[in-house]
Amino acid sequence: MQNFRGVDHAGIGVGNMDEALLFWRDKLGFTELYFDYTGPVPGLEEICKKKDVKARIVMLGNRHTTRLGPGKVKLVQRLDGNGAPEYPAGIGYGEVGLAEVCLHTLHTEKIFRHLVDDLKIKSLMEPLSASVGEHGIDLDIAYVADPWMGKVELIDWKGLWTSRPAAPRIEGVNHVAFGVHDMKVTTDFYKQLGFIDQIFESKEFFDPMAPWYQVGRPLPGHHMTLWLSGEGAGIEPVRLTPLWEDCRGEWGHVGPMDFGIGVQNIKKAVATLKSLGIETHSDIQVLDVGNTEFKYVYFKDPDDQYVSLVESNY
Ligand SMILES: [Fe+2]
Repeated sequence: MQNFRGVDHAGIGVGNMDEALLFWRDKLGFTELYFDYTGPVPGLEEICKKKDVKARIVMLGNRHTTRLGPGKVKLVQRLDGNGAPEYPAGIGYGEVGLAEVCLHTLHTEKIFRHLVDDLKIKSLMEPLSASVGEHGIDLDIAYVADPWMGKVELIDWKGLWTSRPAAPRIEGVNHVAFGVHDMKVTTDFYKQLGFIDQIFESKEFFDPMAPWYQVGRPLPGHHMTLWLSGEGAGIEPVRLTPLWEDCRGEWGHVGPMDFGIGVQNIKKAVATLKSLGIETHSDIQVLDVGNTEFKYVYFKDPDDQYVSLVESNY
């Protein structure tokens, strides 16, 4: 299992890379550039149901990354067809597909006020404090929108991590959330890939999210769990009751849209997938991204989310 290293990055579709960099790099502090690639993106033929997918992909790390904010962001601007696909209609939170990217954030309220009041970023949920799970873990959260209304959560896991004395800051990605059809099937599946520590489970509807659902749509039941791996960022599967329509959208749609699980050795990891009966969407792909190579392969999780393995040495 040591080969699997948790969530390496959250993939976020963008309509315009300059605007995306202004948001992620300049406002949120993802200043560490791993690569900036423009060209064909092979291995997506099955997922996109077309050949010749082309994109600009910018992989960024946060300058304040820590154990609870270890994940990167992968900004994707589709350049083939009609450009960036739209945010899937009907997304509230928890429909099958990516729901959010969550950043670990010391002093959530101060950061939120700075982002919203000074930098004019749109608020999606005012800061609030909660205590979750059987261990009563304290946290502060808030939500803001990316430039295309993708959901960005800010979380301070006060009960998990005694913070180093540090000024208010955003760190890297803490987890990605995604909707699923069956919580047990999904969590059993991801345990095989190293997500073995359940941080919390909630079966209550989370009231502050009510404004996110379309007017006239009955509010669904929420079942959420959050899992961390030994390394990397975590996953937060969400099961709505009743299930809503599939909101995976097209690969590359604006807002959070895919994620990659880091592995030390991608060939060994693919062999592990095969031994577990997990299918991939292609062979291992190797992109020359300038100073380094980006090696990845998309595979089929129980909901066929857009999820890949990436060799985390790019
Ligand atoms: Fe979350």
